[in-house]
Amino acid sequence: MRKLIVRGARPLFGEIRVGGSKNAALPILFASIVTKGVSVIKNVPDIGDVRVAIEILRELGAVVKRRGSTVRVDTTAMEYKKPNPERVGSIRASTYLIGACLSRFGICHLQAFGGCNFAKRPIDLHLLAAQMLGACVEETTVCAKALSGADITLPKVSVGATANAVIMSSTARGITRIKGFAAEPHIMNLIDYLRSAGASIEINDAVLTVKGGELGGGEVEIIGDMIEAGTYAAMAVATGGDLTVSGFNRSELNSALSVLSGCGATVRELDGALRVFGKIKDSADIVAEPYPAFPTDLQPIFAALFGLFAGCRIKDNVFPTRFGYLDSLSPFGIKHSVKFSCAHIYPKSVITPATVGAPDLRGAAACLIAALAANGESCIFNADILARGYESLSEKIRSVGGEIDDIVK
Ligand code: UD1
Repeated sequence: MRKLIVRGARPLFGEIRVGGSKNAALPILFASIVTKGVSVIKNVPDIGDVRVAIEILRELGAVVKRRGSTVRVDTTAMEYKKPNPERVGSIRASTYLIGACLSRFGICHLQAFGGCNFAKRPIDLHLLAAQMLGACVEETTVCAKALSGADITLPKVSVGATANAVIMSSTARGITRIKGFAAEPHIMNLIDYLRSAGASIEINDAVLTVKGGELGGGEVEIIGDMIEAGTYAAMAVATGGDLTVSGFNRSELNSALSVLSGCGATVRELDGALRVFGKIKDSADIVAEPYPAFPTDLQPIFAALFGLFAGCRIKDNVFPTRFGYLDSLSPFGIKHSVKFSCAHIYPKSVITPATVGAPDLRGAAACLIAALAANGESCIFNADILARGYESLSEKIRSVGGEIDDIVK
């Protein structure tokens, strides 16, 4: 059990480089299962979810080696067995086993797939895509003798179901057309990886066209984590500091950065990096939607930030009930109400240090924003959850002047 002790009201100044994107690294690691050979994956973040994903790959017989941030996966000798339920149940990305194992081994057990429990997270669209390609869904397994190309229309934009559809169709016989796909940068990164392994994938505005075939090992660099970058941008403003954030593609974060700059903070582009400072003066109306709109993973973080200043209204059209974390911000003095799927974060009252339990990954990051702003010592329990998605978080915050102790017992 890890807890963070944060002595707040210290402005953060300096430069932070973000690591590789969690939500790109995970589908790519699982997608390696459908290739036969050695893949080289660069800029892989050393975070909890990635460690679990690597353990699952090893269980299935892959040889995985990490040197620095480069991970080498040899999938030549993999064989199917039902992966350890505890591991599968601890990360959401284990849903990518559905597409990857079905393609490579013709079977995947349907287990309790884990991850942050901030909303209902069904897998019906993942299974719909599998069925369209010829799989048969039974009570505890999904099976297919062979997958064949098909026209798939996803009725709702889903990152996970899109990734699984692309993974499956890249080795299915024939041509698959996927409509209603998610176009997040991490999906594009997955496509880059599959292409490097030999897949033929074309993208136009409305359709992904995939011609399936045998895949060998691939090589790819994981994109920088835009959610990590957005978290540090929020910390700069929350603490009255001035941070330069590098290691990611700024254009991927445009929607969130325009909320910051539109409400009074200063956002400057510097030679491949981003400098953020200043204060929030106006309240915002934030609507989380699929890319390129405001990302759902940043709405808890912006709720905490705007709660320190002018308040905001938030609607999350990706996970409409993703507001449970707000109760963990209340002890810091951040007040809210939720009505008709819309959260209202009231403008700043007095922000006080608090002791709270981390609700989920991004909810915990929101608590950390409040703790860094509060004048005094805060404690965040259950902080292991932060290491699932943020690499060297405490070290990075300390390197720019934050006072934070990571206590592991
Ligand atoms: C991924 C990310 C998560 C991020 C989310 C949205 C990983 C491991 N996780 O989650 O960090 O918050 O994208 O950017 O990459 N839905 C269904 N049926 C399905 C699948 C999804 O109804 O079979 C719904 C969900 O309930 C939600 C919406 O579709 O309302 C979007 O979910 P989705 O994009 O699939 O999120 P995840 O892939 O689970």
